[in-house]
Amino acid sequence: MAEHETATLPFDAGADADAGAGAAADAGAGVGVEAGAAGSSAVEAVWDQRYSGPDRLWSGQPNGTLLAETAGLAPGRVLDVGCGEGADALWLAEQGWQVTALDVSRVALERAEAEGRRRGVDVAWLHSGLVEAALAPRSFELVSAQYPALFRTPGNVAEHTLMDVVAPGGTLLVVHHPAPTVSEAKVHGFHPDDYVSPANVAALLDDKWVVEVDEVRPRHVATGAGSHHTHDVVLRARRLA
Ligand SMILES: C[S@@+](CC[C@H](N)C(=O)[O-])C[C@H]1O[C@@H](n2cnc3c(N)ncnc32)[C@H](O)[C@@H]1O
Repeated sequence: MAEHETATLPFDAGADADAGAGAAADAGAGVGVEAGAAGSSAVEAVWDQRYSGPDRLWSGQPNGTLLAETAGLAPGRVLDVGCGEGADALWLAEQGWQVTALDVSRVALERAEAEGRRRGVDVAWLHSGLVEAALAPRSFELVSAQYPALFRTPGNVAEHTLMDVVAPGGTLLVVHHPAPTVSEAKVHGFHPDDYVSPANVAALLDDKWVVEVDEVRPRHVATGAGSHHTHDVVLRARRLA
């Protein structure tokens, strides 16, 4: 990991972020969180710190792009990559999906698991980095990565992992904020190319995939730390074989 990557978090707005709203974390929760291999401990520590405040970091509402892009899909097995406090995962489970939700932050997962317990919703919470999770290939009808903070690597390991776990006929949904300029990113201590973008994934899709959505669209988030983000980059692709 580059020196400047250890202490900075460019992603201040996942799901309709609203750091001021929401319940306190249940610091004693986590019994139902399956132990996997967390990503690098530095990444985990940074995100745990980010989630360490008394209030929920995000709004607790599922992402609008998830609702829009799954409207025509029949529920099956879904992987939520970088699920954070679990709003998307819980919503998917309530729609009948069989959900595996992974995140490198144990603090976030403990909040997610506690909320699932409160709502009586069943999700397999997995404490792991994406690449380290050793997920079975082709095992999810939907893989959703909403504002993931995945580092790019030589060999595009994270991008290939996202693609590899999609079942034949399944859907890969990658959503992110538009990349900042180099100078904007530099202010926050990173480079725009440090993190996996929808375009990085799209560039690797071959003729075994059909790109169904590849666009930038407006987003409207009224409150919270994410409200300054005005657009989403949305990639939705279906695996043919
Ligand atoms: C910007 S937040 C988005 C959270 C959620 N998807 C949402 O939309 O609210 C990025 C999430 O990715 C997680 N994360 C960072 N690196 C990861 C990795 N290598 N594998 C899995 N999760 C990771 C962080 O802990 C954080 O919860």
